[in-house]
Amino acid sequence: MELPFAESWKIKMVEPIRKSTRQEREQWIKEAHYNVFQLKAEQVYIDLLTDSGTNAMSDRQWAGMMMGDESYAGARSFQHMRDTIERLTGFEYVIPTHQGRAAENVLFSYLVKPGDIVPGNSHFDTTKGHIEGRKATALDCTVDEAKDTQLEVPFKGNVDPVKLDKALAENADKVPFIIVTITNNTAGGQPVSMENLRAVRKVADKYGKPVIFDSARFAENAYFIKTREKGYENKTIKEIVKEMFSLADGMTMSAKKDAVVNMGGFIATHRKDWYEGAKGYCVQFEGYLTYGGMNGRDMEAVAIGLDENTEFDNLETRIKQIQYLASRLDEFGIPYQRPAGGHAIFVDADKVLTEVPKEEFPAQTLTIELYLEAGIRGCEIGYLLADRDPVTRENRFNGLDLLRLAIPRRVYTNNHMDVIAVALKNVYDRRHEIKRGVRIAWEAPLMRHFTVQLERL
Ligand code: F0G
Repeated sequence: MELPFAESWKIKMVEPIRKSTRQEREQWIKEAHYNVFQLKAEQVYIDLLTDSGTNAMSDRQWAGMMMGDESYAGARSFQHMRDTIERLTGFEYVIPTHQGRAAENVLFSYLVKPGDIVPGNSHFDTTKGHIEGRKATALDCTVDEAKDTQLEVPFKGNVDPVKLDKALAENADKVPFIIVTITNNTAGGQPVSMENLRAVRKVADKYGKPVIFDSARFAENAYFIKTREKGYENKTIKEIVKEMFSLADGMTMSAKKDAVVNMGGFIATHRKDWYEGAKGYCVQFEGYLTYGGMNGRDMEAVAIGLDENTEFDNLETRIKQIQYLASRLDEFGIPYQRPAGGHAIFVDADKVLTEVPKEEFPAQTLTIELYLEAGIRGCEIGYLLADRDPVTRENRFNGLDLLRLAIPRRVYTNNHMDVIAVALKNVYDRRHEIKRGVRIAWEAPLMRHFTVQLERL
């Protein structure tokens, strides 16, 4: 008999979590204005709000923390992180930042001007925020397949090269760079193929434009290239990563994802002019150039985490857990963005809560129902997160409306996945009884989903 699959690590330290009663949760979610970001973590049983900064570090990373060099300038830990990044990506210029959005802030302060257009594949909300906040436009050129959650294609995160070419043909003079998000979080943690990265490079070269990768989950993307793209089966993850980044001019990185740490980020590039142009903003917003908002120990953990998480076994353990949860949802017929992506399951709320009108935010309603059912905290990646159109101020209902169940790295077991699947099934079984959603009582002008206050209808 073939041995079953199991994790490529064992557990050395644990943290207790607590269940609650439905009555307690009714009270807590009301006090949180029906916004799960406003809940206290101790009011949550299984926390799938994000896979960002919620990871369990390895023994080696913790050992590295003790060796962190906290020197203000020229710390050994910065050198270690910089050298690791250069070895993995080929980029020699590295600017540390406290997290991914800070990398966007520093680099875009130099690169993005009012009136600019930045094409890409479903820009993440902070990326969009840093573009729109500079009175520029984030133009989504994702492939149309990404919008059909039931379509099984291997690289649903891809950029549509035809849309991209059209955008550049019409507005080349306004485009400072193209940004490709790997994996494509907003489209469901969906990967981008090497072939597509090459196609983007080709269009970029045709118009003489640089390419940036938003690299938060680059290692998971490399895993999908290895397991789904012809010609990459026998390459190592590190080889694939190197090839991916050879097609970009620079990267912004939220280390809170694929570096498997709790805090950190960076910019890396081969362009000296970008480094020279952006470094002043690092000093202004983040800190001196060899720590940029991170402790020495944090940089040490990032260096070790990047190295460990560009190894196949670690990624395989991770992605197989997502696929396990997906297989449980398949048993119950629950619709999600197919095939399962890299860091999360994205339940298609429009297809579950068919009687809740879009104006009443079905995915947010499903998020609330799942919390009430079992104390599981997911996150709406849908109409609330999409914010309003900056010009018309209308809600943007043209994208997907999803409930994201993001799985932290190395934190929960497959028993937890079973609880999540059954809780969702229980909500799914009574979906036709849920006819009303929520109404916005208060919202911020940008990135409203973090602080929005809602009323239940
Ligand atoms: N880019 C992508 C693709 C992201 O998913 C995120 C964060 C960022 C940039 C910003 O990085 O949080 O370190 O400032 N995503 C988190 C999430 C918040 O839950 O998906 P950050």
